Amino acid sequence: MQKVCIVGASGKLGRYMVQHALDRGYQVVGVCRERSVGKLDAFRGHITIIPGFTNDRAVIQQAVAGCDGVLAVLVPWGANHYATGTAQAVLDYARPGARLIFSCGWHITRDGQDVYPASLKREEVLARWLGRLTRMVDIDDQIAACRRVFTSDARWTVVRGSDLEEGESQGLPVWSRHVGDPILTSNLTRRVDYALFMVAALENDTLVHEAPAIVGCQTPSALAAGRAMRA
Ligand SMILES: NC(=O)c1ccc[n+]([C@@H]2O[C@H](COP(=O)([O-])OP(=O)(O)OC[C@H]3O[C@@H](n4cnc5c(N)ncnc54)[C@H](OP(=O)(O)O)[C@@H]3O)[C@@H](O)[C@H]2O)c1
Repeated sequence: MQKVCIVGASGKLGRYMVQHALDRGYQVVGVCRERSVGKLDAFRGHITIIPGFTNDRAVIQQAVAGCDGVLAVLVPWGANHYATGTAQAVLDYARPGARLIFSCGWHITRDGQDVYPASLKREEVLARWLGRLTRMVDIDDQIAACRRVFTSDARWTVVRGSDLEEGESQGLPVWSRHVGDPILTSNLTRRVDYALFMVAALENDTLVHEAPAIVGCQTPSALAAGRAMRA
């Protein structure tokens, strides 16, 4: 892995991914909205920035050219199919064989085998309802974006994030194929470690065609699962 593109580089997750990617010695190309370029000032001179909307196909075509991997933040913002447009452009223009890593939340299910806490289902219903009312959020578009990824032949991984918090890194999160696995019960990950998992997935072929649901490795549920495995 030499050159990676980070789509949505100016967001909180994106900036952590930029740092992790630079720490690994990768050449980094970042895509972010023109108005957000300033949020990447700390990396000026260290990364190439291509300003533009992440669902702009010409922007993505230019940004992913020559990249061995693409890290794409899928967000449910707006009412113009932003997430599906972003995912499709990445799938269409990344070079064949490139590692493609997408972010989303636990609410996305790949095979319908996830067992969700009632609170999470309530949050999703509320977000869908509010989103339709305000036209600011479109959860179903993020779901549709992931469907496109799941059915593609690309070498993808969809990393499903738990609730997030800020704070120092605790190390690589642990993961499960399905929400409902006791290891995930704590439902909390440091955002810096979510980014770490995304970047580490670039070189982890065991995660190709997986949709890991992650949780912080120091959370009570992760520690309890570790103890149970050792016992
Ligand atoms: N927040 C959570 O608790 C949580 C939980 C589970 C999973 N996740 C997943 O983690 C990833 C990152 O989420 P995050 O919440 O941590 O946010 P984030 O990293 O700050 O990313 C937000 C992204 O959305 C862009 N954005 C914001 N408003 C926009 C708009 N109106 N139109 C287009 N783009 C817009 C931002 O771009 P600018 O920099 O240009 O504003 C940025 O790239 C997402 O895939 C999310 O599904 C988040």
